[in-house]
Amino acid sequence: MKAIIPAAGYGTRFFPVSKAVPKELLPVGDRPAIHLIVEEAIEAGAEEVIVITSPDKQLLAEYFRNDPVWHTRLAKKKGALAKLHHLEEISGRVIFVDQHEQLGLGHAVLQAAPLLEDETEPVLILLGDALVLGGEVAASTAMLEISKERNNASVIGLELVPPEKVSSYGIAAGKPDGSKDIYRLSDLVEKPSMEKTPSDMAVAGRYLLSPRIFTLLSTLEPGHGGEIQLTDAIAALLREEAVYGYLFTGTRCDIGNPEGYLKTLRLANRS
Ligand code: G1P
Repeated sequence: MKAIIPAAGYGTRFFPVSKAVPKELLPVGDRPAIHLIVEEAIEAGAEEVIVITSPDKQLLAEYFRNDPVWHTRLAKKKGALAKLHHLEEISGRVIFVDQHEQLGLGHAVLQAAPLLEDETEPVLILLGDALVLGGEVAASTAMLEISKERNNASVIGLELVPPEKVSSYGIAAGKPDGSKDIYRLSDLVEKPSMEKTPSDMAVAGRYLLSPRIFTLLSTLEPGHGGEIQLTDAIAALLREEAVYGYLFTGTRCDIGNPEGYLKTLRLANRS
C-alpha cells in the first residue's frame, strides 16, 4: 500500500512560528507530529509514504534525510542512536513531492498521481496536521481492515462534531452497515452550514481511497472556497462505487493552531 501525507499548507493559523518552522515539525514528546503520522501509515502497511510539501518547507525533507554525521555524534549515546536507526528506517520509505500552487487539498493529493499510476489498491491519505491519539487500534489500521472485509472498498475516517462546528469540516451522510461505527455513505458535503448539514459526522483527516480518485480529481472544478476539494472528488466516487465511513475510536487532534496543539500535548501526555 502507498500513503500520501498532504503537508504543503503555509500554516497561517500558526503564524509567526510557521514563518520558520513547518507546523508538521512541532514536537509531540520526542518526535515531530509528522514522524508520528508516518509511523501510523507504516504500521497500517504503507511501503511508501509520499509527503506533499511546498518548496518553502525544505525542513521537512531535512528531517527525513539520512546524514552519516549523526552516527559519529551519537556514537556513545546508545538510546539516541537507537532512535536514529529507527528514524533512518522509516525515512527510507518517505519521498517528497512539491505542490507549487496552493489550490486546495484535492490539488495537493493530485500531485502524487504520477507516482501511483499502477496502483490498483486503495491509497491511504493522512492529513499532516491531524493526529489521532488514544484509540484502541490506530485509525488507519482499523480502516484497512474494514476495507479488506468489503472487497477493498474506500473507507474514510469520521468523528462526531457539535452542530456549530459542521461548517469547518467535510460532512458525511449515510446508513449504518452492519455495525454502529461503520456507515455506507450516500453523500459528502464540504463545510455545509448548520442549517443544511446532512449529519454531524465529520471527515476527520484519514482516508483510504480507491485510485479512481485521481481521475476524478483531475477533472474536478473548484468547489468550496474556490479550491479543488478532496471531499467533492469522494462525493463523485461514491456515486460510482461503495464508500464507507468509519467513526474511529481515539481523538483527532489538530496541531495546525496553537490551541489545538496545546490540547494535543495534554492528551499525548496522558496516553
Ligand atoms: C480539510 C478537509 C475537510 C476535513 C478537514 C479535517 O479541511 O477539506 O473535509 O473535514 O480537513 O481536518 P481544512 O481543515 O483543511 O479546511
